[in-house]
Amino acid sequence: MSPVVARTAAELRSLSGTVALVPTMGALHDGHVQLMKHARPLADTLVASIFVNPTQFAPGEDYTEYPRTWESDLERCAEAGVDVLFAPEVATMYPGGLDAQITVDPGPLGTVLEGAARPTHFRGVLTVVAKLFGLVRPDVAVFGEKDYQQLALIRSMAQTLCLGVEVVGCPTVREADGLAMSSRNRYLTPDERDRAVALSQALAAGVAAAADGPEAVRAAALARLADFGVVADYVAVTSADLGDPDPSGSGEEGRLLIAARVGKPRLLDNCAVTLCGAPSEGN
Ligand code: PAF
Repeated sequence: MSPVVARTAAELRSLSGTVALVPTMGALHDGHVQLMKHARPLADTLVASIFVNPTQFAPGEDYTEYPRTWESDLERCAEAGVDVLFAPEVATMYPGGLDAQITVDPGPLGTVLEGAARPTHFRGVLTVVAKLFGLVRPDVAVFGEKDYQQLALIRSMAQTLCLGVEVVGCPTVREADGLAMSSRNRYLTPDERDRAVALSQALAAGVAAAADGPEAVRAAALARLADFGVVADYVAVTSADLGDPDPSGSGEEGRLLIAARVGKPRLLDNCAVTLCGAPSEGN
């Protein structure tokens, strides 16, 4: 069944029972459908939102070209059992204009990794997600682990600002050859699409080197990227909450994160990695 389309805050008032929200910017792919299917049993009413949020794009980024695929998005939402599709206009989300003075500051975690490359990005993301939470009032909200730093920041915002919503992360959905699904993959030319598999292969190479410590993980990942002629923006090994890994290499689960431009699109991928100490000389 096709979802009910809501465009305004007033149209959201009749949501019944508990509510799960899956925020998106549209151009929906199987990864989004998985988020929706994961969210479906978590609440009585499943709301998905589609809003290409201007404030998370810096000048010169792809806000105007960002793919808008309304008809197929509606079909994907129907397939995933979405009850209500919230698709607001910019004026509904930013009634005071885009330069509103009240925004959500992501703090130090918003300045590293993606935040170092895109200094205004997470302020825009957190601000719009806070607004979506305020409008939809979900009990639970589901986000993909593919944007791991985004997920960590949203989870932290929900806790720190006592927003009363449980933030749930979902594993990354991949193409058959390992490429993480992303709306921006459609920008890849056939040759770039072949080389884009470098990111997931680099993650696998990094994980395979985990027993030799974080530096070996980074080196293995960088070497695999180089095999494909892909230059990383960063390859980072962090703790699970994106802090520095424990230098004692306690065997805890950390994160390996990669960002790299393949042609026009900047691709992101990440996975769990066991944090071990580097083997000492003679071992
Ligand atoms: O991940 C996305 O699609 C966006 O950053 C989000 C969370 C919908 C906010 O605009």
